[in-house]
Amino acid sequence: MSKSVYVSKAAAGATVAVAALALLAVIGLVIFHHIRIQECPLPLSPTVMMSTTPAPTEYPPSLYMRLPGDLIPESYKIYLQTHLHTKLDNLDDQNYNFTGNCTVKFKCVNATNTIYIHSQQLNLNLIGVTDEHGKEMPVHHVNLTEDERDFVVIELVDTLIVDGLYYLSLEFQGECYDIGGLSVRRYTADIKDKRYLASTQLESTVARRVFPCFDEPAMKAVFDFTIIHRKGSTALSNMPQKAQMEIDIDGEKWSITEFYPTIKSSTYILSFVVFDFDSKETNHGRYTLKTWARPEVIAAGYADYAHSVTSDILHFFEEYCGINYPLSKLDQVALPEFGANAMENWGLITYAERTLTYNAAMSSLIEKELTASVIAHELAHQWFGNLVTMKWWNDLWLKEGFATYLSYLALDKVEPNMKDLIIVREVQRMLDSESRGESQPVAQKEEEVQSSVDIALMYSPIVYSKGAALLRMLSESLAQNVFQRGLQTYLKMYQYDSVGAQDLWVHLQRAVDNSSVHIPVAAVMETWTQQVGYPLITINTMSGEVSQKHFRLQPDSGHNLTWQVPIRVMKSGSEDIAFDLLSVEGPESKPLYRSDDSEWILANVNYTGYYRVNYDPENWGKLIQQLETDHQKIPVLSRAQLIDDAFYLARTKYVNITLALNTIKHLLKDTEFIPWDTATRNLKYLLLMLDRSEAYGPIQIKETQQENSLNKFSVEECLERVQNNINWVKENKQTVLQWFQTERTHGNSKA
Ligand SMILES: *[C@@H]1O[C@H](CO)[C@@H](O)[C@H](O)[C@H]1NC(C)=O
Ligand SMILES: *[C@@H]1O[C@H](CO)[C@@H](O)[C@H](O)[C@H]1NC(C)=O
Ligand SMILES: *[C@@H]1O[C@H](CO)[C@@H](O)[C@H](O)[C@H]1NC(C)=O
Ligand SMILES: *[C@@H]1O[C@H](CO)[C@@H](O)[C@H](O)[C@H]1NC(C)=O
Ligand SMILES: *[C@@H]1O[C@H](CO)[C@@H](O)[C@H](O)[C@H]1NC(C)=O
Ligand SMILES: *[C@@H]1O[C@H](CO)[C@@H](O)[C@H](O)[C@H]1NC(C)=O
Ligand SMILES: *[C@@H]1O[C@H](CO)[C@@H](O)[C@H](O)[C@H]1NC(C)=O
Ligand SMILES: *[C@@H]1O[C@H](CO)[C@@H](O)[C@H](O)[C@H]1NC(C)=O
Ligand SMILES: [Zn+2]
Repeated sequence: MSKSVYVSKAAAGATVAVAALALLAVIGLVIFHHIRIQECPLPLSPTVMMSTTPAPTEYPPSLYMRLPGDLIPESYKIYLQTHLHTKLDNLDDQNYNFTGNCTVKFKCVNATNTIYIHSQQLNLNLIGVTDEHGKEMPVHHVNLTEDERDFVVIELVDTLIVDGLYYLSLEFQGECYDIGGLSVRRYTADIKDKRYLASTQLESTVARRVFPCFDEPAMKAVFDFTIIHRKGSTALSNMPQKAQMEIDIDGEKWSITEFYPTIKSSTYILSFVVFDFDSKETNHGRYTLKTWARPEVIAAGYADYAHSVTSDILHFFEEYCGINYPLSKLDQVALPEFGANAMENWGLITYAERTLTYNAAMSSLIEKELTASVIAHELAHQWFGNLVTMKWWNDLWLKEGFATYLSYLALDKVEPNMKDLIIVREVQRMLDSESRGESQPVAQKEEEVQSSVDIALMYSPIVYSKGAALLRMLSESLAQNVFQRGLQTYLKMYQYDSVGAQDLWVHLQRAVDNSSVHIPVAAVMETWTQQVGYPLITINTMSGEVSQKHFRLQPDSGHNLTWQVPIRVMKSGSEDIAFDLLSVEGPESKPLYRSDDSEWILANVNYTGYYRVNYDPENWGKLIQQLETDHQKIPVLSRAQLIDDAFYLARTKYVNITLALNTIKHLLKDTEFIPWDTATRNLKYLLLMLDRSEAYGPIQIKETQQENSLNKFSVEECLERVQNNINWVKENKQTVLQWFQTERTHGNSKA
């Protein structure tokens, strides 16, 4: 599934210029009025609590909510009839019910006489259980009312034998829901035309609302769907259509659409839709790509951008993963009134219409980026999630962390220079969030994620954004090509299967062992995925001492945690990057961290590590000096990191606020987006704090409390205020004014 928080490059670009003025004003204010923002209260984000459904004592807690695992599904044959009318004038005549039957073939791996299968809010009727020769298995007791685990229970007279194959057939009837499962949605084509569509959203645990099934991600099977729908409507599913017929049922005309059986798939990525949409189609040889939307959307060309960008992104993933997209078709569907941003159903990806469509005349650059990045995220899932699936939801990050991380690599191919935006959108966002409220680890223990509620709580920014940040750290520490080689063997080994994090570590370790790098992958990564938060690395360049400590904004709220920290270090005057793995709390002394007289040391080169760094004041001074004389000697992402770290260290009193402000003084010469965006965000916070502070008397900028309020200043007003405060601005007035005006028009332009 996709998440929906995005920062805009273009919008941030517009505020950058305004922030340039604010920045000067702030430097002036702070220097002249000695504001002590340290005294301001810190906003705390609410604590995230994990809730786990307590298991009754007679069950082993780790098994209670789960399928026993005695029976493994191999294939399903499903007939499903949707009763909706896709065109209808009177809402009251609509039929939201669906009916069908399901025959599941399963293998017994542990002798048992009880079948547990998932079902939720379905009316069921048992057709029968047979062995592989078609012999009826007598039933001792049936309870087709689902319990709190969504299980229905069928007890047989005889015990199912190990390695035996059996068939269970059930009839079902269900109702469509607004969210989750099978939904019927109404939309309007124009004022008088009322239309309806049916679509599914089955992640994480609601396939069981559509048909009875073994609804766990590791219970992969082959699914053979036949959809019966009203004549005139179109039915799509994960696989291409195999056959279509028309029949009469009770005097009404229906279409029967049969699909090819899926390849081995989890239940949560199954999907079908029934609608009357149009599509744009391109044959790419091995697969046919279709982008579906309301006919007027297709006619207007609003799906064209999505359609054109998809094959490039898909091609990137085929190369990156070393495995071709395994299906012969990919349908992408733009659904009006769709709650989630998008869902990666195998071969039938569903998107919110507003996400998939792009209209060059009306939409902004940001919306275009959003379209491409959501497509990249969902396409990454076709490998990470669909082909290789996490065994259980506690390792959700194995699909969401990868899809988030890899979407930036893919995006870089279609919209240049997008890769580094991961810093702003994921890394800094999580560094901020984890330094505030209580957090949770990226990976949970399997037994802690039991009920559907536990599973729903897994979908947090921790899993998406921190997961992505950690994978980026690992990839850059191993070298990207080593990381990629490890991923390729991992995908090949576990395709059509399911995995735990250990399986990933083993394959990455093999790639590492066959390279010049030496890193114990599992030992390092488990300190990051299984612990909350992140460390502050403190380096004393005089003594060469280095140490780590859990970083929190609230003093003394950190836990006693130690990470294995990959640190890349560079020194002034050299292009060489040294690598160190800090695995103790410290301080420990290493020559690597000692500097000579005028030499500066920069740790966490290119901002690849998920942590902050503090230095002795001398080294900070030398780094700031370098920024002012020739900022390009420090890599662009490291410039952003110095700014962000300095401001957060100032907020926690590790460094003086003047030092933090000095890290942004060079920005008038720096034209890169990411350092600017970092400075803007930190300044917004500072202005907010200044405005609350009593010391903030002489210059009242009331509007700063509102988001984007900086835009309300006139250039002259702003400059006047700045001028009154600091001579430096006077000297640069022309430049600032010019830059402000050109940047603002550029930033606001629609493209
Ligand atoms: C839909 O199903 C419900 C029970 O699930 C039933 O009461 C209702 O009559 C059905 N509606 C139609 C139109 O079939
Ligand atoms: C399931 O429904 C289809 C269509 O109504 C029917 O042809 C088929 O025989 C049914 N299967 C079972 C096992 O009842
Ligand atoms: C089979 O079931 C028994 C009883 O529930 C259990 O003790 C045993 O571990 C199971 N074996 C396997 C291979 O799942
Ligand atoms: C069937 O299961 C439900 C839910 O566990 C339970 O409430 C009900 O008593 C059971 N009915 C019978 C006849 O066992
Ligand atoms: C080991 O690395 C070399 C290149 O460094 C590569 O050609 C080879 O395929 C790798 N072997 C394995 C098993 O990854
Ligand atoms: C932190 O934990 C380590 C090992 O568990 C222990 O040796 C050390 O004393 C602890 N430090 C603090 C400050 O509690
Ligand atoms: C840092 O990033 C730049 C730009 O992406 C890249 O050219 C350079 O090789 C990177 N340096 C290291 C040490 O990764
Ligand atoms: C911060 O540094 C400035 C200038 O070096 C100094 O005047 C000020 O007292 C320092 N503030 C704190 C809180 O240490
Ligand atoms: Zn996702």
